[in-house]
Amino acid sequence: MIRLKTTEEIKLLRESGRLAAQALRFAGSLVRPGVSTLEIDDKVREFILDHGAYPSPLNYPGRPTDPRKPRIEQGCFPYSICTSRNEVVTHGIPSAKEFLGEGDIVNLDITVCLKGYHGDCSATYFVGEVSPEARHLVETTRKCLEAGIESAKEGAFLNDVGASIQDLAEAEGYSVVREYCGHGIGRKFHEEPQVLHHRDRQGPRLRKGMVFTIEPMINQGVWKTKLLDDGWTAVTADGKLSAQFEHTIAITDRGTEILTVCDD
Ligand code: MF3
Ligand code: CO
Ligand code: CO
Repeated sequence: MIRLKTTEEIKLLRESGRLAAQALRFAGSLVRPGVSTLEIDDKVREFILDHGAYPSPLNYPGRPTDPRKPRIEQGCFPYSICTSRNEVVTHGIPSAKEFLGEGDIVNLDITVCLKGYHGDCSATYFVGEVSPEARHLVETTRKCLEAGIESAKEGAFLNDVGASIQDLAEAEGYSVVREYCGHGIGRKFHEEPQVLHHRDRQGPRLRKGMVFTIEPMINQGVWKTKLLDDGWTAVTADGKLSAQFEHTIAITDRGTEILTVCDD
């Protein structure tokens, strides 16, 4: 069941979306050769807590106990953001031993919970100068997200989003990850519907009050992924690069609104 949001709820989702976007911009400002992914996690967690929210990934799918000294339960995500470098497709775990290096690409995925509502966004950053191939993959992935948002009009079918993303990615010779998808979002981090980024059955029509993420993961090589032994990190099956961008959007009276934006 897709839970439609009221105007009041969409106001709150705008607030959490704005904070997620601010936290993402802050996270991006920390990207440089030599920084560890745990250092980025640490600073972004403090940023989110300082703004009266909590980082949704911390101890997910459980709730963070004390976010500054969390007790991580078995099988739950151990940190506050996801850091997915190079061949990591999604859900990369920050580490004190993983340093960003010149030429890397890294996706930072931020989700905050503010006043009970989640906002979720991500972007892939360049570490220093990257190869033309990496740059083209990242730029195409950003265009895939834009094409997906463009297709997400009231009255369209949900899978028009995935179809437009797949068309664009494949026209550039890339593949679309199928094992992870976008999702409804609200009082819960992950709600119905699942938002596939490839062609599939048309799905429901988009209606006012729907709020969901679009977060295409686009691979240089094959779309298949492998899960590492940590139970979270998904990598490309062939070890080639993967990029991702994510926004939370809402279908409202004002049209299709991107919630995870900040202009200040
Ligand atoms: N932020 C991711 C998403 O876009 C989900 C991360 S779940 C976590 O849906 F547990 F890995 F944090
Ligand atoms: Co996310
Ligand atoms: Co998401």
